Amino acid sequence: MKVSLSRTWRVSKSLTYREPVVTLPALKRARRSTVVLKYTMAVSGLIMVGYLLLHMYGNLKVFAGQDGFDEYAHHLRTFGEPMLPHEGLLWIVRVVLLAAVVLHVYSAVRLAVRDRKAAGYKNGTRYHSKQNRRGVQRSYATFTLRWGGLVIALFIVYHLLHLTGNQIHPGGASDSPYERVVNGFEIWWVYLSYVVAMLAVGFHLWHGIWSAFTSLGQNRADTRRGSRLTALAWVLTLVIVVGFLLPPTAIFFFGLGS
Ligand code: HEM
Repeated sequence: MKVSLSRTWRVSKSLTYREPVVTLPALKRARRSTVVLKYTMAVSGLIMVGYLLLHMYGNLKVFAGQDGFDEYAHHLRTFGEPMLPHEGLLWIVRVVLLAAVVLHVYSAVRLAVRDRKAAGYKNGTRYHSKQNRRGVQRSYATFTLRWGGLVIALFIVYHLLHLTGNQIHPGGASDSPYERVVNGFEIWWVYLSYVVAMLAVGFHLWHGIWSAFTSLGQNRADTRRGSRLTALAWVLTLVIVVGFLLPPTAIFFFGLGS
């Protein structure tokens, strides 16, 4: 009897049954793949690290005084004109950042759910023990990445309302970005809230940078301690956190701008 072969059915030579060939669309396959999720986390995270480096560097313009900082803030909005519309570059950066944040959070949530399922958290007791009742290894790194990530997300909302939109204006509202920064950081609780947020950013970066490069196959060390990647994560984290904290500290403790 002649068997007609459709695109999705193949007749096995040695066996008599017909075996379906699963052909999921590429996007669906990618969304199911843990490797793709880890890569997405890594790449979106590194895009944000790049932004943080640039943002931190830009903030140091505060030391150039009011005219210098305000001119820099103005330049960010007119950069690329007339080829780009007003604020064109800023909007490109915003869209890329927003996409990175959404992909980062989406992958994080999906990976966390997968973690729990793999450990039989919901319906099974695989890996459960007296010492580990939840069956999920709760390391210091996963704890700071997950809870730190939430703190950073809340901080970003507060930060945008404070220094970009100026809807929250402790110390007084102003059209001048320099004055907004100085007015805010003269107040102890504003300074403290940014210090706490930068510590959360620091912990997140320290583990996140190492993890991102490891996911991308760049970790060739036998042990974590002493590896080049660990050193890179430390250096980048310190540069970003110290760099971000310099202007607020100079304002709060040394009266910069007043
Ligand atoms: C002490 C630390 C920081 C200071 C002093 C600071 C300062 C500023 C200032 C002055 C602006 C407004 C710029 C302008 O309108 O011209 C701004 C915008 C912004 N900052 Fe920060 N920043 C800090 C940390 C961070 C961190 C850690 C993040 C991200 C996790 C971040 C993300 C943003 C974003 C997304 C914008 C909006 C840019 C835009 O689309 O207009 N900042 N920041």
